[in-house]
Amino acid sequence: MSTGIETLGIGSSEPTEDPQPSIDQAVGLARALHGALSEVLLGTPAAVNTAVVSALSGGHLLIEDVPGVGKTVLARALATALGVKLSRIQGHPDLLPSDITGVTVFAPDTGTWEFRPGPVFGHVVLLDEMNRTPPRTQSALLEAMEEQQVSVDGESWPLPQPHLVIGTQNPIGQLGTYPLVESQLDRFSLSTSIGYPDADVETRLVLHNGGRYALDALVPVSDPTRWRRAIDATASVHVVATVAHYAVSLVRATRTAGTVRLGASPRAAISLIRSAQAYAVLAGRAYVTPQDIQAVAVACLSHRLIAEGSGADGPALVSRIVAEAPVPPT
Ligand SMILES: Nc1ncnc2c1ncn2[C@@H]1O[C@H](COP(=O)(O)OP(=O)(O)OP(=O)(O)O)[C@@H](O)[C@H]1O
Ligand SMILES: [Mg+2]
Repeated sequence: MSTGIETLGIGSSEPTEDPQPSIDQAVGLARALHGALSEVLLGTPAAVNTAVVSALSGGHLLIEDVPGVGKTVLARALATALGVKLSRIQGHPDLLPSDITGVTVFAPDTGTWEFRPGPVFGHVVLLDEMNRTPPRTQSALLEAMEEQQVSVDGESWPLPQPHLVIGTQNPIGQLGTYPLVESQLDRFSLSTSIGYPDADVETRLVLHNGGRYALDALVPVSDPTRWRRAIDATASVHVVATVAHYAVSLVRATRTAGTVRLGASPRAAISLIRSAQAYAVLAGRAYVTPQDIQAVAVACLSHRLIAEGSGADGPALVSRIVAEAPVPPT
């Protein structure tokens, strides 16, 4: 079963507020992005929704799934649709921090030291199998994700904006891996799995060479400037105090839930609001409802929880918290 953001109000009859022009553009981009990704990645609406919310909120995305279910194809499709080149890093035990961040080298012709930027200097960066890279290297990337800059030999280099990291890890086969620690997982705004498609979809995939033909035919629906504006517009989507309080109550409930050893952080609460704003934009609205918070809660919170025993399944825990918390009236 896939996890991610299951339902959305595209084309629904929910009342739509008259949006500001910039929100209007963000809605257009969100829908175009959703359409483009749905062309390539078949039968996995939750993963597609989560990827669109990640792009619009500017929040990093963790994809946890087994091999061959379309993780790389999703990252490629997202970068292509956003009008940027995908910068891909394959995780392995010998990967050094400088393989990601870049190095300062001596240029004999000019007699100076020059910085050669590493692959983290892309708008969309895919770090495949990130749990195969040693902790030192994971930290280098995760620092860049948080600080939006890279420090090499005492100098700081800003990352291109927008900057989105997609990390993947395979939940099966932990041999020779370095599991991400809690502080690293918290850097990811959202997590999703893709899951196996159903038999009909899988048959379509077989007949159409997976999503490759659709990926080759994909045309950009944005560029970095328009994408940046859409992120800014999304951040201005209206959140009333009762809805913010509701989001905070869900986050706080994760800290006291029965089997939880570590609950969600204030950073998670911010991510929850930002993702709900993006979800509202995807649904064509300029304000956040409690249902938007509910729709993104599992994708935003479950990967950050450390729980023990029989109730240790993050998505199930978050779903239970959402089901039990009182919902404010709208
Ligand atoms: N739901 C899907 N929609 C479209 N294509 C799919 C889907 N599932 C699998 N595929 C196809 O399966 C093939 C493998 O996909 P991909 O390389 O993205 O897998 P992956 O999850 O990145 O695997 P790995 O973990 O080995 O890197 C591609 O041809 C891809 O198009
Ligand atoms: Mg892959």
